[in-house]
Amino acid sequence: MKKILVTGGTGYIGSHTAVELISEGYEVVIADNLSNSKITVLDGIEKITGTRPAFERIDLCDGQGLESMLQKHGDVSAVIHFAAYKAVGESVGQPLKYYRNNLLSLINLLELMPLYSIENLVFSSSCTVYGQPEQLPVTEQAPVQPATSPYGNTKQVSEEIIRDTVAASNAIKSIALRYFNPIGAHASALIGELPVGVPNNLVPFITQTAIGIRGQLSVFGNDYHTPDGSCIRDYIHVVDLAKAHVVAVRRLIENKNRTPFEVFNLGTGRGVSVLELIRTFEKVTGKPLNYRITDRRPGDTEQVWADTSFANKELGWQARSTLEETLRSAWEWEKQHHQPEI
Ligand code: UD1
Repeated sequence: MKKILVTGGTGYIGSHTAVELISEGYEVVIADNLSNSKITVLDGIEKITGTRPAFERIDLCDGQGLESMLQKHGDVSAVIHFAAYKAVGESVGQPLKYYRNNLLSLINLLELMPLYSIENLVFSSSCTVYGQPEQLPVTEQAPVQPATSPYGNTKQVSEEIIRDTVAASNAIKSIALRYFNPIGAHASALIGELPVGVPNNLVPFITQTAIGIRGQLSVFGNDYHTPDGSCIRDYIHVVDLAKAHVVAVRRLIENKNRTPFEVFNLGTGRGVSVLELIRTFEKVTGKPLNYRITDRRPGDTEQVWADTSFANKELGWQARSTLEETLRSAWEWEKQHHQPEI
């Protein structure tokens, strides 16, 4: 059984990926400092899969701690590196917190992996690297644009750090996965997104508004150059996204990668506006959503959605869930998580 180290494995995407890995017969070791996730996520993973993954509470910025963990767990076949801070707004106010955490953890991993003969790294990147692309849908060949936040910059710099490291020796090969907008939750509603405080992202804000935790959703702008004036994104079911990680890990372990550093878009290929998403949510749940149009949010990209043909062809992977299914899963999770008595 191949052992996969999942950093940030109790987080939103990490936990869904741990489930898919276990379901595909991999052994999972989760490393997480629990700075933005809860240990009880392991219970959800165990209930879904019947297996409780090994767990190490560790901050990856602590190189010695990371080394002890790698010694302890020995024969790791691949690392999937999710652990990172991800709040765009916070990163503007606290850039060093973001640069230190997101970059140092990656550097520690890259330095230690060869010492423990770990060759394979899957990295969590983001479509934020494209900024506002000139052509849509955006392909992996589109130029990387100057980042609009320190968070976004950590993703760009991380990709560069990996590219340079892979080029400098043949000890490591890597796949960077550029996520579009992950939403939804596992069909069991046993794991899902757990935003701390007021959510920054659209779908958790919508579900919290629908259930009564928030009074009203603000739609950030309806004067964009889009058909209905609201921003357009590519919303992908987190389980579809998680499955792509299993494929990427397998590709690296089996040496099927074409180049030592590959980059893939992970989206559905479909652009959806904020207002369209709200309408779909209302249709799926039968609940009218209290929202109003407000000013644009600084730093927002007008419209972006993925050209997924490279991932479809090379990985043999495709996002399967419809927007309706995805929003239904987000709503089921919200209901289970916040109001278990319902
Ligand atoms: C942002 C980041 C992305 C990051 C992701 C996860 C940028 C440009 N994007 O994506 O890199 O990976 O968060 O944290 O840095 N919206 C509202 N009202 C709300 C919230 C959002 O109208 O209360 C709108 C936004 O204007 C946007 C869309 O919903 O058009 C999606 O927003 P959000 O969920 O925050 O994700 P992104 O900004 O696309």
